[in-house]
Amino acid sequence: MQTMPMGPTICLRIEELAAITAESGKLTRLFLTPEQKRATELVRSWMNQAGMATRTDAIGNLIGRYEGDHPGLPALVVGSHLDTVRDAGKYDGMLGVLTAISCVEELHREGVRLPFAIELVGFSDEEGVRFGSTLLGSRAFAGTFEPCMLESRDAKGLTVADALREFGLNPATIQTAARTPSEILAYVELHIEQGPVLEKMDLPVGCVTSINGATRFKIEVKVKAGHAGTVPMAGRQDALAAAAECVLVVEHRCGSEEGLVGTVGFIEALPGSVNVIPGEVRFSLDIRAPGDTQRRRAVEDVTREINTIAQRRDVAIKIDRSHDAAAAPCSPWLMAQIDQAIKAEGISRCHLASGAGHDGMAVAAITDIGMIFVRCAGGISHSPAEAIKVEDAEIGARVLLSFIKNFKRGRPA
Ligand code: HGY
Ligand code: MN
Ligand code: MN
Repeated sequence: MQTMPMGPTICLRIEELAAITAESGKLTRLFLTPEQKRATELVRSWMNQAGMATRTDAIGNLIGRYEGDHPGLPALVVGSHLDTVRDAGKYDGMLGVLTAISCVEELHREGVRLPFAIELVGFSDEEGVRFGSTLLGSRAFAGTFEPCMLESRDAKGLTVADALREFGLNPATIQTAARTPSEILAYVELHIEQGPVLEKMDLPVGCVTSINGATRFKIEVKVKAGHAGTVPMAGRQDALAAAAECVLVVEHRCGSEEGLVGTVGFIEALPGSVNVIPGEVRFSLDIRAPGDTQRRRAVEDVTREINTIAQRRDVAIKIDRSHDAAAAPCSPWLMAQIDQAIKAEGISRCHLASGAGHDGMAVAAITDIGMIFVRCAGGISHSPAEAIKVEDAEIGARVLLSFIKNFKRGRPA
């Protein structure tokens, strides 16, 4: 039976989903918010249309199940995340979920049942924007959610536990979201590349080799605030000047090695008055590298230098680690099957690493992972300028569908 085009439907649904946001004119849809609830119900309706039974687990992940040729079989898990960063692009996360839905919808239309089930997951918190610690949805799914994460607070002081209750979930049941390795055959995620490689190579899709590891911190600098006009510059204690020196340390140290990246994405100075020397500054720190030793060395150097700055300036500093995920290699046996699916579409092979983090880093705790990247315009992401061509959405869907249809269970002995 001829496969129906999937790209146009995927792109239409992308637009519909992108309209569900907390900020008009921008796409911002954070973990455990009313917008997440509305998005979950819209995506659930598409999953039902594709012949899937659906449920929401204890941390708000949306899960659709398409049975195999007989009920209760272990599942190939596909999907991505439904939360976004602030002022986000429309494709980061959503493309993977909607492409997987269209693939299952095509199987359902063709009346195909495979020798395994398919579980499609829309993870509830991959970005970690609201509470600072990322991959909360996939960590709960993998059974690696730490209870202390329930105490993380958002900008309004609400804890994850409060937010779960407000969302209609019970924080005491988080562990019920955990899946066992025997239920799952593998995890494969389709995602925009969020980088320039595929566009440079003029390829629509590529096969991911590994996901870079990442460490995140929340850092606070504190001094006594002072009058901007009366406190002399000599001996002045300025929390923002100290933080600015720290930012340059991050740029210098992380700019010194190939593949290493360091970013201060968030900073706020208090009290924020034009005529008051900032007494308190809070900022984030995100350090990543392909290799875990390389990342850990950079983390040690940067935190040591930040403490030296604090001592020299006689300011108080608090450095809290809010996230730490090891680099996650993709499994060669899955890569080989992804390569096969790409070849079947007449596209030449491209293997590339992911500088961006993905849910696969967490799911790797219980099963082997693979990823398919789709080219995006200029490699831009985490921005409303994120864009893909409908033809590439179509190719990505055909590759994922071909991978699913020809999936061979289990890693070679
Ligand atoms: O931050 C990341 O790399 C991912 O988009 N969460
Ligand atoms: Mn993503
Ligand atoms: Mn992202």
